[in-house]
Amino acid sequence: MPDQRLRVAAACLVVALLPMVANMAHAAEARGAEAAKIAAGAELAKRHCTSCHVIGPAQTHGTDQAPTWREIAARPTTTPEFLRGFLSHPHGGMPPLTLANEQIDDLAAYILSLRQ
Ligand code: HEC
Repeated sequence: MPDQRLRVAAACLVVALLPMVANMAHAAEARGAEAAKIAAGAELAKRHCTSCHVIGPAQTHGTDQAPTWREIAARPTTTPEFLRGFLSHPHGGMPPLTLANEQIDDLAAYILSLRQ
């Protein structure tokens, strides 16, 4: 029966495509989660970091001592691990910060999003 064969073929196609669709949905979700972290990091940065750092293109100046975040992001040594470590125990000219791990992750995501 050609009609039934067609139906079986269509069912097979759906079964074959399902994991692909699920994967795409998963990837979109992951991208959304990353975008949310970057946005949260930008908000935190605006509140706590702009008195010294230039954190993005919209800001014209901070202090001369603090590197701009674009500079920090451009260094090959700036990895999520480095930023997590540094922001857990800031040193040098940085004020002592008391950030929650989640805030640190958000700030790190934002800083790394500035890499060009
Ligand atoms: C009172 C001024 C000040 C504030 C506020 C400040 N910073 Fe900094 N930050 C500095 C200075 C100065 C340096 C350079 C430190 C050095 O090289 O010794 C620095 C360096 C850094 C570095 C690079 C560290 C490295 O090893 O090169 C990161 C990342 C950073 N700051 C993140 C932040 C974040 C995130 C915030 C807000 C939560 C923040 N800073 C707020 C002054 C500040």
